[in-house]
Amino acid sequence: MKLLITGVAGFIGHAVAKRLSGQGHEILGIDNLNEYYDVSLKQARLDDLAACEDVRFLKLDLADREGMAALFAEQRFDRVIHLAAQAGVRYSLENPHVYADSNLLGHLNVLEGCRQQGVEHLVYASSSSVYGMNDKTPFATSDSVDHPVSLYAATKKANELMAHTYSHLYGIPATGLRFFTVYGPWGRPDMAMFKFTRAILAGEPLQVFNHGEMSRDFTYIDDIAEGVVRTLAVIPAADPEWRASHGGPDSSSAPYALYNIGHGSPVGLMDFIRAVEAATGKEAICDYQPMQPGDVPRTWADTEALFAATGYRPRVKVEEGARRFVEWYRGYYGV
Ligand SMILES: NC(=O)c1ccc[n+]([C@@H]2O[C@H](COP(=O)([O-])OP(=O)(O)OC[C@H]3O[C@@H](n4cnc5c(N)ncnc54)[C@H](O)[C@@H]3O)[C@@H](O)[C@H]2O)c1
Repeated sequence: MKLLITGVAGFIGHAVAKRLSGQGHEILGIDNLNEYYDVSLKQARLDDLAACEDVRFLKLDLADREGMAALFAEQRFDRVIHLAAQAGVRYSLENPHVYADSNLLGHLNVLEGCRQQGVEHLVYASSSSVYGMNDKTPFATSDSVDHPVSLYAATKKANELMAHTYSHLYGIPATGLRFFTVYGPWGRPDMAMFKFTRAILAGEPLQVFNHGEMSRDFTYIDDIAEGVVRTLAVIPAADPEWRASHGGPDSSSAPYALYNIGHGSPVGLMDFIRAVEAATGKEAICDYQPMQPGDVPRTWADTEALFAATGYRPRVKVEEGARRFVEWYRGYYGV
């Protein structure tokens, strides 16, 4: 197949491209290499992908309407894996407009490209943050998600609504994936595992929000990549018999699907720190802080729908994942 991966220089995009390489596909990856975090890490991921002969790279901004239209017109992709976005909950309080550019306008440009070319399947990244104020656990895609607590979450929920609309209007099979706190080798410097490892190895204090009273359904990167590849193969079908009065938020008459991809077992923040301590062999100096605006106290993925559709559930436990991350981190930074 001819595949487009957006955000290929990103944490998840890089892992998905590597997982799909060598399977007989022709893969084009795009990314705008923005400076939200260290661009040299994005470049290093691209250098790592340079060994894959079936992966090509093009620097392109999702918000470039003409550029995106030309890309779709020239390339004629069979399937699209759309991962590029402005990520990060906290940064969306500082710089909201960049979320509108990349996540709303950018998503629209991807949907338009899919419409023009009639792609077989669009798989796109949503986020566990759409669950916002929900307090019923585990979080299920059949739960309504109408109370986001950050602009980031609101753009991800908007992505699902926009995809549903295009799926309904133009029959584009679209699958949204709500990822739960992803970590692992080549990870993002703005996320907990990365920050904690850096601080612990440097003997510096690490900020522990909500005084450690938080839990997250931490999900290992290889499990995420596997989930993306599995769901790419399951093209949602239209269901003309479906009625909104009987169906939940994750079903439709349109060829539209939503899945959580999370480990399925929440880990307390202090247990998470202990896993990083064990992996580094050093003790953390904790600087306890209040809850951050935009944050949620817990996340927990219900993975039944993913398992029913793909026969797959994430597997890697946080102790093992932390060990693999720290091993990569030490090698990459030479510390
Ligand atoms: N990592 C997580 O824990 C997590 C959790 C939930 C959802 N997600 C979502 O998964 C996707 C991938 O996340 P990630 O962790 O790999 O983040 P990332 O920031 O490492 O990767 C995103 C990539 O997209 C690129 N990008 C951003 N805006 C762009 C634009 N306008 N045009 C072209 N490229 C652009 C960035 O340069 C980056 O390389 C995102 O949609 C994110 O919102 C991630």
